[in-house]
Formats: sequence, structure tokens, C-alpha cells
Amino acid sequence: MREISFRVGELPSEPAIQTFLKARKLESRGADVVHFEIGEPDFETPVHIREALKHAVDGGQTHYCDSQGVRELREAIADRIGTVRDVDVDPGSIVVTPGLRPVLFYGALVTLHDGDEGIYCDPAFAAFPAVIRFAGATAVAVPLHGDTGFQLDVDELRRAVTPRTRLLTLNSPHNPTGAVLSEEDLRAIEEIACEHDLFVLSDETYEEIYYEDRPRSVIEFPALRERSIVMSGFSKTYCMTGWRLGYAVLPPALIEPFVRLTANSVSCTNTFVQHAAVAALRDSQSCVHEMVAQFRRRRDVLVDRLNRMPGVSCHTPSGAFYAFADVSGLGLPDEELARILLEEAGVAALAGSAFGACGRGYLRFAYTTSMDNILKGMDRMERVVSSLPTIRVA
Ligand SMILES: Cc1ncc(COP(=O)(O)O)c(C=O)c1O
Repeated sequence: MREISFRVGELPSEPAIQTFLKARKLESRGADVVHFEIGEPDFETPVHIREALKHAVDGGQTHYCDSQGVRELREAIADRIGTVRDVDVDPGSIVVTPGLRPVLFYGALVTLHDGDEGIYCDPAFAAFPAVIRFAGATAVAVPLHGDTGFQLDVDELRRAVTPRTRLLTLNSPHNPTGAVLSEEDLRAIEEIACEHDLFVLSDETYEEIYYEDRPRSVIEFPALRERSIVMSGFSKTYCMTGWRLGYAVLPPALIEPFVRLTANSVSCTNTFVQHAAVAALRDSQSCVHEMVAQFRRRRDVLVDRLNRMPGVSCHTPSGAFYAFADVSGLGLPDEELARILLEEAGVAALAGSAFGACGRGYLRFAYTTSMDNILKGMDRMERVVSSLPTIRVA
């Protein structure tokens, strides 16, 4: 049989799912596992959104719809962005997709040619370099450093740009570090993108999960916006990961190709899910605020507990729901430590190397589990950490 396409061969397996499946296997044999591996809120989708879904199904919203997305939803998205960001958004510039991942693919496919370069920050959500390569381009990493809290160094970004660079990918708040791009960062990025005529793919899926000032969006910087695909979604903000719903706001030239890609790959996004999502945007946002308040309490406890362990240090994330802890002081490769934690202590965390070379020596903990579980997981990890010299000798 012939080999599978190199494009598909280049796609990574999803590390969170791999670890989750391994944990499930241990659980099926009786182990008790604390889950820090999966990046999805542990809360139920708010009841008013579920009710809106039932209403949409019963009302017959069960057919194909416009590949660009249901008009009422695109209007609700435009209104919401307008209210939050104080910018005008034309519903005609929005394309609705089944989750954010398709936007990453379509964004890379509509902007990159064979031989181009696309920039991503390392560590990164693994899909970023993957989609750049999938589109036939070279993925160029800009390192983020733990000693600066993983803030982007715009000078390093500038140095990574070459005449072949065509796309810059951004993610703020950032998975896996929780870092947020500042206004100054975005101004510098705007200047670089304009000077080198770059497209920007800005993943803002964690935009509502923040613990200091609201993170700025690329959409608020007019010259940057003109060349950017700004993407967000419902998975994280409204606990709708399984519903599969995201969207992109696009510059005029990219709208039609983007819709064509959507039409050819998925026809359209689930119609009744889109109708239900109107309720998510139009109704009270108190469900989001309550969820973020819980994440904040969990973050504070988790980061404090990690920092109290000898050999471990963890900066306080400004957004998203991940603690990215430096465990290099423990003297074990991060993959090995993650394996020991899971297999010997029932603590499922992700090895930082899964997010790129700059994630080496770190572990990612998603605080998308209850406070009781966080305390239990940290007690267990503390025991592992205090026994490590023995483990290393063995
Ligand atoms: C940075 C980032 N982008 C995109 C996604 C995928 O989002 P969705 O469920 O909307 O496809 C995730 C999920 O973890 C993520 O962390």
C-alpha cells in the first residue's frame, strides 16, 4: 500500500487526549486519577443555553444553513464584539465554524503558499505549527521564556521575520502559559505586520478568562485588524466544548475563500447549535463571571501549592486556565515526571515538551477540576516530589 500523505503524517496526535485515554485505562483498573490534563471547563453548559438548544431543535432548526453561518448568530457576535471592544463589526465579515480548530486550518490554508514561512510562539498549542506545515509552509518558532513569565519578546519576533514570512500566529491569553499580550506588544506587532506585509491569525479563544485587566484584542488595532483573522469561540467561555462552535472575523479579501473552504469541508456548522449560541451571547454573562471567579480561586491555590514544592516554580497566569510549572529543578525530564505522576500517584498533567522545545522542563496543569481535586492532586504530587531522590536512585 502507498504511504499516507505527508501532510497528514505531519499532524501531531493530541497530547491531552492521549494522556486522558491513558488515565482512563488506569481508572478502569481501579486507579483514582486527578485530571489536570484536559483543557475544558468542568462546568455544565449553562441551563439557558441548553434550553435554547432544545427550543431550536423543536422549532425545526435541523437543516443545512448558510455556510457562512446563521445570520442571527453573526449579528449577535458582531454586537457582542462591538459592546466589549468598542469597534464596528459587520456580520458579513464573520464566518461561523464547528469549533476553533477549523479556523486554524482555514486561516493557514487561505494565507500560506508552499515555501512560505509562518511564525508561531514556542511553547504553543500544538495545532499552530501543525497547520502551518500542513499548508506547505515552514513553521518558524519564536521562543517564549519562563523567566519573563512567557511574555513575547518583540525583538525576537522581529528577528524571526524573513522575506518569506507571510503569516504570524498569536494566542492571547495563551495556552499553555496563561500569558497575555500587552497593548505595547500589540502595537509593536502591528508595526511589524504592516512593515513586512504579514497576515495575522489571532486565536483569542480564552478572551473571557482573565484575572487582571481585560486582554486587548487584535481587533482593537485598526491597521492590524485589516490583515488579521481574529478568532474566538464558545468552547471555553460558555463550557460548550462538545457543541463545536467557533468563528472568525475576517478582512474583506479573505471572507469568500474562507466561506468556500467551509462549504467544501463541512457544508455548514450545526444549525441548531448556532441558534442556541445566540442565547449565550444575548443573555446575561453572569455565568461566565461566576466560572472565572472559580477559576481564579483554583488558580491561586494551585500556583501557591506548586510554588511551595522544592524544585518547582510557577508564575501566576494572567488568563486562560492553565498553570505552567517549571519542574526542571526536580532533575527529571518532564515526560518522565508526567509518567511517574500519572502511573504512581494518579495525577494526570501534561509534559511541557508536548508544547514545543521551550516547554521542556515544565508541566501543564489545567485547573478545570474541583478545588477538592486540586488539593488532592497537590498532596499527591508533594509526596512524589519529596520521594524523588529515591526514585532517581532506583
Ligand atoms: C489555543 C487554543 N485554540 C483552539 C482550541 C480549540 O478550540 P475549539 O474547541 O473551539 O476547537 C484550543 C483548545 O484547547 C486552544 O487551547
